[in-house]
Amino acid sequence: LDGWLRYAPLPASISWPSVPKHIVVLNTTKTSPVYTAGQELQRGIQNILGQSCHFSSGKPDESIIVGTLDAYVSTYGNISQSVDLKDEGFWLSTENNIVQIVGQNERGALYGAFEYLSMLAQANFSSVAYASNPDAPIRWVNQWDNLDGSIERGYGGASIFFSNGTIVNNLTRVAEYARLLASVGINAVVINNVNANASILSPQNIDGLGRIADTMRPYGVQVGLSLYFASPTSGVQGQANLTTFDPLDPQVITWWGNVTDQIYERVPDLAGYLVKASSEGQPGPITYNRTLAQGANLFAKALQPHGGRVLFRAFVYNQLNESDWKADRANAAVDFFKPLDGEFDENVVVQIKYGPIDFQVREPASPLFANLFHTNAAIELEVTQEYLGQQTHLVYLPPLWNTVLDFDMRIDNKTSLVRDIIAGRTFNRSLGGYAAVVNVGTNQTWLGSHLSMANCYAYGRLAWNPTEDTTKIHEDWSRLTFGLDQNVVDTITHMALESWPAYENYSGNLGIQTLTDILYTHFGPNPQSQDNNGWGQWTRADHTTMGMDRTVSNGTGYSGTYPPEVAAMYENIESTPDNLLLWFHHVNYTQKLKSGKTVIQHFYDAHYAGAETAQTFAQQWQTLAGKIDRQRFDEQLYQLRYQAGHSIVWRDAIVNFYHNISGIADESGRVGNH
Ligand code: GCU
Repeated sequence: LDGWLRYAPLPASISWPSVPKHIVVLNTTKTSPVYTAGQELQRGIQNILGQSCHFSSGKPDESIIVGTLDAYVSTYGNISQSVDLKDEGFWLSTENNIVQIVGQNERGALYGAFEYLSMLAQANFSSVAYASNPDAPIRWVNQWDNLDGSIERGYGGASIFFSNGTIVNNLTRVAEYARLLASVGINAVVINNVNANASILSPQNIDGLGRIADTMRPYGVQVGLSLYFASPTSGVQGQANLTTFDPLDPQVITWWGNVTDQIYERVPDLAGYLVKASSEGQPGPITYNRTLAQGANLFAKALQPHGGRVLFRAFVYNQLNESDWKADRANAAVDFFKPLDGEFDENVVVQIKYGPIDFQVREPASPLFANLFHTNAAIELEVTQEYLGQQTHLVYLPPLWNTVLDFDMRIDNKTSLVRDIIAGRTFNRSLGGYAAVVNVGTNQTWLGSHLSMANCYAYGRLAWNPTEDTTKIHEDWSRLTFGLDQNVVDTITHMALESWPAYENYSGNLGIQTLTDILYTHFGPNPQSQDNNGWGQWTRADHTTMGMDRTVSNGTGYSGTYPPEVAAMYENIESTPDNLLLWFHHVNYTQKLKSGKTVIQHFYDAHYAGAETAQTFAQQWQTLAGKIDRQRFDEQLYQLRYQAGHSIVWRDAIVNFYHNISGIADESGRVGNH
């Protein structure tokens, strides 16, 4: 239940230098994250080192001091070293038997306390003195929780926030979730589904929202809300009912202004709104022939006096006709949003999924990141493994995320990494950052699997610092979660690093997307479901060819939506990396890859190789018997055995499908002979 915040006692075999026994907390208001930091330090040191600490207000000598920079300076004068603190950052020094944990603000102090405790829990007693600052201001989590307690694309049980149309009474789990998120620097949670329900705005639910905010506030985690665009006409209990939801209608503007004021009365520090509009059947500004910017700004103006933000989703597309060779869902976001660049208010952030389709096992970086120069942008990642095995498959996601965060868009032929764009550095934007769909639930493991929690942990760490090494992040998580035994850390991390490449191999490679059932479950193999429907996740596989022609010269023109250098790379088969070949090009099954193999032979080989790697996970895990407590060992083993079997189901379904459709034999004679 504590996730990576177990504070397990250090093994007796380790000896460590003394740690101060006094904690000086420079703010004793119980709702302050600084107060929480003090409590957390006391609890952590007690559990990890078996040492009791006392709160004192006395001298700094031999103390752990935690507070904001302002409080520190007014109590002790300046910090001896020059400290470069940015918004929400912290200074951590363990030099000279004094531990200084100084936040730029209250939240920053809590982040610093968690960092110090993470060091202790990993038996790291090195002397340090450094400032750490988050890379971007928006570090949010989205929960797709419905008010009835179900969670869209959630695999870890029911909602911790809602049941029966309202907010649950017991918010203990909410506090625990906020604690986990704060420990990795997350500063807000949008608690309800992007496919939102207007009834979240009833007075009773606004009060419940207030209780959630009160519960998370001591952890510095703000609450945010997803809105249903047509709420003014939905007969929300306790609110006026209008006949229109046109974003330019004065009555509608007043309606949202009133509702927003009511919310801020109960939740003065609401983070803001998340809006999915004119997408997948949701109402939106386009219903009234208004632009998406006009829709976003409706909420921006209501929030502006209160300091709130609108995260407006770029996931907007229409159903398409596959008989049109040039139709392409991947073009939708740029088509809709590029013409609106500069029309969004300053407190709007356009929230862009990492790729142009939908959380696939591999996608090129969304070209929208390179098409908004006067608009704030955030990336949307997905911790819940919707298309990636739904937590029954081990898939460590940060290496996938890095293919996008580290991607260089070459805007104006200059280095322009996606992570710099969303941090606001490239275009000098005031806001930007990260959102991830996490979808924890009431399950004791939170996500439905012990190992999947590494993705949640790593998400926070990367949103704080996207240049951190994802292997090291996993090692830290593993030590905090399963203990310091080097063999355990190495084995679990090794499995994690093999997991995404293996999943890609057996679920859909060369950029063809996750060949899953896209119509309903998004689980298990179903390559035929990709085509002959309006969703636009097509493979265009026939008897001789497959892949989407997204070139400018002969296809959908998508490659031309990138800046020139990148566009040229993808336009040409020769310079397109093999792992995105079928994303950009429609080719014969006998097309040769850079490896010299044909596309079809690569398909066969990769699916066998991926499933073979997945077979080893349970075996690798079993070598840890006795080194991990029985319950977690058994539960995870069960899932890894399931994955071993299911990877074979994946392999066989896909290789047989392409063998049948192409009629091309497998050089190794494995396919079609069972
Ligand atoms: C995916 C997902 C939906 C979700 C949508 C979104 O398509 O399957 O459940 O509503 O993305 O991000 O809005």
